[in-house]
Amino acid sequence: MKLQPLPAKARLALSHPSPSIEAYEGSVRSGKTVATLIDWARYIRTGPAGQLAMCGRTERTVINNLILPMQEMFGPSRVRINYGSGVVTVFGRKVHLYGANNEQARTKIQGATLAGAYVDEASTLPESFFNMLYTRLSVPGAKLWLTANPEGPKHWLKTKWLDKARVWVDGKGRVIEQPADVSLELHRYTFLLDDNEALDPAYVDRTKRSYSGVFRRRYIDAEWVAAEGSVYDQFDEDRHVIPFAETPQIARVLAAGIDYGTTNPTSALILGLTAEQHPRLVFLDEYRHDPETHGKLTDAEQSRRIRAFLNGRHHPTQALPQPPYTVIDPAAASLKVQLAHDGHRGIWDAANDVLPGIKLMSSLIATDQLLITDRCKGLIGELPGYVWDDKKTEKGEDAPVKANDHSADAARYAIYTTQALWRTALRFTEEVTNAPSQGPGLAAA
Ligand SMILES: Nc1ncnc2c1ncn2[C@@H]1O[C@H](COP(=O)(O)OP(=O)(O)O)[C@@H](O)[C@H]1O
Ligand SMILES: [Mg+2]
Repeated sequence: MKLQPLPAKARLALSHPSPSIEAYEGSVRSGKTVATLIDWARYIRTGPAGQLAMCGRTERTVINNLILPMQEMFGPSRVRINYGSGVVTVFGRKVHLYGANNEQARTKIQGATLAGAYVDEASTLPESFFNMLYTRLSVPGAKLWLTANPEGPKHWLKTKWLDKARVWVDGKGRVIEQPADVSLELHRYTFLLDDNEALDPAYVDRTKRSYSGVFRRRYIDAEWVAAEGSVYDQFDEDRHVIPFAETPQIARVLAAGIDYGTTNPTSALILGLTAEQHPRLVFLDEYRHDPETHGKLTDAEQSRRIRAFLNGRHHPTQALPQPPYTVIDPAAASLKVQLAHDGHRGIWDAANDVLPGIKLMSSLIATDQLLITDRCKGLIGELPGYVWDDKKTEKGEDAPVKANDHSADAARYAIYTTQALWRTALRFTEEVTNAPSQGPGLAAA
């Protein structure tokens, strides 16, 4: 990458006297990572001696999101990667890499004495890890850099850290200062996509369009807002639903996604990739069984019906193979056992990260890259009423209401878990911060 002069906001950020935390937050692709890495690299060369740490959700995301870009910026001789060792060498100094995607992660740094730390996508890490990291910065003059995308208004990173910034350069470039007795030694900079002058305007446009609803307000407009209203607010029958008879030609059948219930409906949806010049995803067909109206089924009977469904015809003109993968609600242990017992192959636990999955599906809907044939009646019926849970929102969490979400879940499982199979075929700009670590097409982590 050829570095361009930093935008005004980043220069302003770099010219302030050093506080102990430099927090760069705001839109995706706004230049937060590049600006912080430049500052961080300078700190590695000139800061106090001692241990250094770089942290993200997993060691792999740290390498992909931070170390590879640093290698590009400063050259491979200055940034050496020792894959699998958990350590990189930057300007001759060892830097430890930490993945922190669960509550136990803090134990990895418990005893450390750090002179500096860099935290990528801080709002996606456990608060306990961040708190521990901060207490480990015990070398005099130690500093911490973080980048983050906005989440809900009650997120710990916002209420306990960002809101207490001594200096805040907000999205509009205004400088807001707070007295020392009510603030932390923290500088906060809110970046917008338009602050990044290095990007092609068409790319900026596409990126903006690929987010909708709460994701747009957070990841594009850089607002820390609650999720409310319809989850898939861009879903529109006129745009996304097609008559089965008009299903485009299919290049590849990707998977079946299954959500399983004993007292609730069971839903299976078949996901395909179209053979169009600009390929799209399409839900071709749906199996749905509602025990309330059609009686409870044993697992053996569910398995028989699901296998018969998967074996059927799901395209008006093409003879398609069966879905090579069946991606199932990870909680549906008994159905998985039954299907396997019945000789069904290609069974995978669905990656069940609800928010990243919703974000991904929402982006596909917003960019008209997801079609649904009118055979998928359960899904079409559920999507408009699939809403964020107000009660959860009040507690500072983002979660959809857990009702009438069976085909919606099956759809999300299929899309999110198989993304390694279709991502490159689509025009997709969304950052992969929370890609599933396992799923068809992915090497086991
Ligand atoms: N100063 C810069 N010079 C050149 N390219 C830049 C610069 N800042 C950002 N970019 C480009 O913009 C992209 C997004 O920047 P990045 O720092 O990754 O954004 P963020 O961390 O906010 O998502 C980078 O991949 C890079 O191509
Ligand atoms: Mg970034």
